[in-house]
Order: sequence, then C-alpha cells, then structure tokens
Amino acid sequence: MTRVLLLGNGAREHAVAVSLVHSGVELYAHMEQRNPGIAHLSKKITIGSITDPKSIPELYGIDYVFVGPEAPLASGVSDFIMSQGVPCVGPSQAAGMIETSKSFARIVIDQTTPQANPRYIIARSLDDLRKFENQIGVENMVVKPNGLTGGKGVKIFGEHLSTREELEKYAISLLTKTGLVVLEEKLQGIEFTLQSFADGSRLEFMPIVRDYKRAYDGDKGPNTGSMGSYSTSTHDMPYLTAEDLETAKTIMNATLVGIKKKAGTAFKGILYGQFMKTQAGIKVIEYNARFGDPEVMNVLSIMSSSLDEVCHRIIDGSLNKIKFENEATVCVYVVPEGYPGTEVIKDSSIAIDPGGTCELYYASVYEKEGQIFTTGSRAIGVLGKGNTVSEARKRAYEDTRRIRGRVRYRRDIALDA
Ligand code: AMP
Ligand code: GLY
Repeated sequence: MTRVLLLGNGAREHAVAVSLVHSGVELYAHMEQRNPGIAHLSKKITIGSITDPKSIPELYGIDYVFVGPEAPLASGVSDFIMSQGVPCVGPSQAAGMIETSKSFARIVIDQTTPQANPRYIIARSLDDLRKFENQIGVENMVVKPNGLTGGKGVKIFGEHLSTREELEKYAISLLTKTGLVVLEEKLQGIEFTLQSFADGSRLEFMPIVRDYKRAYDGDKGPNTGSMGSYSTSTHDMPYLTAEDLETAKTIMNATLVGIKKKAGTAFKGILYGQFMKTQAGIKVIEYNARFGDPEVMNVLSIMSSSLDEVCHRIIDGSLNKIKFENEATVCVYVVPEGYPGTEVIKDSSIAIDPGGTCELYYASVYEKEGQIFTTGSRAIGVLGKGNTVSEARKRAYEDTRRIRGRVRYRRDIALDA
C-alpha cells in the first residue's frame, strides 16, 4: 500500500485527502491546525509548522509527500523533502516562483506568450511608478505585491483604491518593504480557472472552473479566498469558445517550458492558471503552483482516474490521459458571519442537519467534544453534483441550508451559468 504524507489543513487538503484515500493510499497528515475531516481519514496525524523543514515529521516509509498549499513551496520545504530522497508532488522552490513571485511569472509569460500578459512594469522606484502612470493612466492600474499575500494583496484602482494618492501610497509601501512592486493594466472581462497536472514536461488538463472571489452577491465587496465555484458537465464554460480553451492550454504548455528555462528546474505538481477573456484576447491574471481552493473540489470530486496513480506518474514523468465524469459541480462556501472583516464571528458552533446529499469539505474549523466550531476564516465547502449546473446548484444550496450557526454564504454562486 502506498503511504503518502499530506501537508496542509484547509478544505483543499481535505479534498486531496478524500481523493487519495479513495484511490487506496494510507494517509499521514501534517497540519498546523487539526482539520477534523483530514484527521478522520488519516492513519496518523502530526501538528506543527508546515513551512519549517525542521518540523516535517519522519519521512521513513513514506512513498511520496503531497504539498497542499503554496507556503511550504515558498519556504523550500519541497526541496528539503526531495533532498531526503523522498519524491514530492509540488514543485521546487525555484519552479514554484511561478506563483510565489508575480514578477517571475510576468517575465516567464513575456518570454513564451507575451500576448497573454497585460501591459505591466516591475517598478523598482518612484520614477518607474510615475512613468507607468503617465503611460496608461492611474485609473487603469492594478497594484500587486511581488510575493504571497493569500489573495488579499492585489489592489485595483476604482475598487480598492480611489485616488492617485492612495495608489501611490500603497505602491510605495510595497516598494519600501520589498524593493519592487508589480504594476499592471486593469483588465476587463470574465475570469476562468484552468488547472493541470504537471510531470515536468507534460500537462494534463482538468475541467474549467469559474471561481467567485468577491465577498457578497453580485460580485460586490472585497476579494476573499473565494466564496464558491462551478464547473459544467462538458468541462467547458458557456462564455468560452473551443478556441479560447485551446489558447489557454497553449499558453500553459508554453509556460511549463518557460519555467524550466528560467528556473533551471522542471515544474512537477499542480499548475493552476487563472485567465481572463478580454476584448484583446485571453490574458493570464496569475499562476498558482497548487490546486485552487475551492476549484479543487469541483475537479477531484468528478475525477475517475486514481489520484494516487496520477501522483506516481507526476513523479515518474509519465502522465497520460486523465478521466473525469461528465457531471456538473457547484461549490458554495459557508463562512462565519462578518467574514472577511475584522468583526468576524469566531469560536461559534456549527450544527449540520442530517440527510444531505452533498460532499462537505472542512476548511478553517476545529472540533471540540464532537462539535464543530468556526475560526475567523472560511468554514465549510459544500459540493453539489448533477447532470446540469442548475441541478448541482439546487443540491448544493439545499445542503448549505442544513448548516446552522452564525454563518453566511453567497446566494448567487453559479446563478449566471
Ligand atoms: P490575484 O491574487 O492575482 O489572483 O488577484 C486577485 C484578483 O484581482 C483576481 O482574481 C482578479 O479578479 C483581480 N486582478 C488581478 N490582476 C488583475 C488585472 N491585471 N486586471 C484586472 N483584475 C485583476
Ligand atoms: N480560488 C483561488 C485560489 O485558490 O487561489
């Protein structure tokens, strides 16, 4: 039996755990906080830092490690694991820069598919900042920290920044902190997520997913880690043509080659592309070096190939066709009242009425005396499946309403599908 150590404790890792156990592995989990869903699936769990190599548990007898989130990639944990002679599903620190450094990503895209980049500049001084402002106009700008910010560092003029002073203040604060800031043209259009398995030289694509990042209905409010997502039974999106899909795949295939060239090491793991369909064509918003959360739930819940076998093929460099059921999926995230603000309701108990039909994935919750409690972050992902998006949506919302406590959710996930 394959023994796998899984790093991470969010709903993303809960979904990976379900899929790995379903494909017959014996699961070991190392988490910073005990995720009750993962704990129930694991032979053994350990609690400790997932970003400090010294905290990684004994790897003796482990066939491979699956790295769930991006933070351990950024801190070099995947390199540490490989240096111990244990294979890792998750890229090296250098290849992972496609997510952990926004400037690295824009440069790789420039070197491979420049048409997929918005106009941008890697600004290293106030002069650079002013030059770009004059070039494209402050009202058309997006400011991005170079490093990881949990999806909350990107600020867009007209949404999070309303004057030149505000934009400059934010950009200068990032410049001062890290020596550079990525400034981009504000793109307009509709977004989609394309995730792939990567074995270093080949990508195998998963169904397209649409993610809803804004806190409130009608795509209003601040960005969150995401409030929900959907995918269709035909694995495409109503607003994308076959050509759009091919373009996105071509861009990602070129990126895989570009990463190897620039980082000097091949990318193995999960390569996640977030795109926008604009009037000027398909553009890359960002890349991630891991599964999306919640997008992972949409794809793994309908994957008919064995995740364990796919992981072995990622490690061996022998990926081949991966199969997914022709089912639609809708994921609704249940979050504590007040999320994502400062007045968020923490340590409040959640009850789940019995009789549901959906898969539930635990995100940031903990268990005490058999009861589930919220923390300050997203609580539970409810994943409904069906022959159509509207069927999947109906099921997801039926079960969302079974979750009781001081929680809320968006009511319009997949409504525009
Ligand atoms: P990111 O952390 O790069 O995914 O950015 C978070 C969100 O900001 C994305 O989901 C987009 O909605 C938005 N965003 C990022 N970059 C741009 C851009 N160049 N133009 C318009 N919106 C953007
Ligand atoms: N759902 C977006 C992300 O995982 O980054």
